Amino acid sequence: MTDKELIALAGQARANAYAPYSNYRVGAALLTASGQVYTGVNVENASYGLAICAERTAAVKAVSAGEREFVAIAVVTDNGGSPCGACRQVLAEFGPQMRVVLADASGKSRTYLLSDLLPDYFGPANLPKR
Ligand code: THU
Repeated sequence: MTDKELIALAGQARANAYAPYSNYRVGAALLTASGQVYTGVNVENASYGLAICAERTAAVKAVSAGEREFVAIAVVTDNGGSPCGACRQVLAEFGPQMRVVLADASGKSRTYLLSDLLPDYFGPANLPKR
């Protein structure tokens, strides 16, 4: 699975984004260590604060399928926007070193490591031993 293919899958998924309130449509495609890809879209609600981002949709789909190791995520928006802080934190739980590929609608992309987008993240190591 190349990053280009991952971008294409995120772009296809984006067609199902439910964003009638913001009109900001987001598609994501998450690659796990098993080689599987889980897509996600943002899903908004008339109760605005209940919107869920595309990245977290993909993450919870992957974990629900038994995946615990994230390798890369592609995110496609109109303008190549970057994942919000909440999504960075959720992704870091399962892929602190994963690649984050951000593409705009024309396919132009840039790539980060999640560890650069969210340095010194709060993780399992910060919690007391149980
Ligand atoms: N959104 C995402 O899906 N991912 C992000 O990283 C940023 C924001 C969604 C949430 C909401 O549906 C819309 O974009 C505008 O904030």
